[in-house]
Amino acid sequence: AYVVEEHVPEMVGAQSEVEEYADVDWDNLGFSLVRTDYMFATRSCREGNFEQGYLSRYGNIELNPAAGILNYGQGLIEGMKAYRGEDGRILMFRPELNALRMKKGAERMCMHSPTVQQFMEGVKQTVLANRRWVPPPGKGSLYLRPLLFGSGASLGVSAASEYTFLVFGSPVQNYFKEGTGALNLYVEEVIPRACLGGTGGVKAISNYGPVLEAMRRAKARGFSDVLYLDAETGKNIEEVSAANIFLVKGNTIVTPATNGTILEGITRKSVIELAIHLGYKVEERKVPVEELKEAEEVFCTGTATGVASVGSITFNNTTTEYKVKDGLVTQQLRSILVGIQTGSIQDPMDWVLQI
Ligand code: PLP
Ligand code: COI
Repeated sequence: AYVVEEHVPEMVGAQSEVEEYADVDWDNLGFSLVRTDYMFATRSCREGNFEQGYLSRYGNIELNPAAGILNYGQGLIEGMKAYRGEDGRILMFRPELNALRMKKGAERMCMHSPTVQQFMEGVKQTVLANRRWVPPPGKGSLYLRPLLFGSGASLGVSAASEYTFLVFGSPVQNYFKEGTGALNLYVEEVIPRACLGGTGGVKAISNYGPVLEAMRRAKARGFSDVLYLDAETGKNIEEVSAANIFLVKGNTIVTPATNGTILEGITRKSVIELAIHLGYKVEERKVPVEELKEAEEVFCTGTATGVASVGSITFNNTTTEYKVKDGLVTQQLRSILVGIQTGSIQDPMDWVLQI
């Protein structure tokens, strides 16, 4: 379906030995695309198996105009990060969970998917080939974007006959313009993010376009992002555009239960496991929007987002404010999680993989 120029694996090691860091203003990274050196790609055949993948120079790809992704939206994304520890090691956080989530998404979207091992190979090769783009300790991380999409052509509505698995990366720091400051969320009452039986629970690319208008409106009014309600009743909170949400009430941490409409975030899962380990009571259940008034702290979780404090939530013209000062549950969970991810805290859960 498309042609990638040259195979260049021999050059990759040589180049990364000469130059430790790419020429980047590491103190001013946000979350915008920085062009790195290489990307990884592989294609599936009709039987659904993926070929041996390879690295090529980062660049445009070519697609048949009738490709499944362009016509019928067969596409999945993943998001993960590679961190540089103080000791120079490059670490990834629970990457096999991203591989499994892509597999689950592929089943839902009727797509071929790479095996966990092929997924891991693609991600590792991308990180190693672009290691000079992994920011220095404390300056951010290399965000990896694995993509799976229908690259085979078909005119009628049908699953594509061929799929492409592609991985690229970009050095990033904070996702929100607020930096590490607290977020102000707006509860969207008209546009839902996902419906029962839909694809909200997988990382389909088609989950993002439909909420851009809600995000645009919220941002135009000065909010950081949108908090969505369930499509069925409009009474319960679900998640933010690209992050899960948690409420802290004393020793109890509450988060909406995932029932196919909410993405099962890997940060969400890790925060739940960590919180239980630390002795908090964690409740995964329906969370009525009115309950937002009862929380002391609110935070969002995600790979891009990290563990981000929420300073306020506006619903139906009423704004509720939350504690955001140091010494809170949010900060405790964030500092332990970041410590594990960057290797500064010993990893009791065996979550970290050295690349
Ligand atoms: N919810 C949505 C819609 C997302 O896009 C993301 C980002 O990946 C998350 C939640 C958080 O998931 P994770 O913690 O796996 O990054
Ligand atoms: C992530 O946290 O990896 C996301 O997917 C967020 C995003 C869509 C930029």
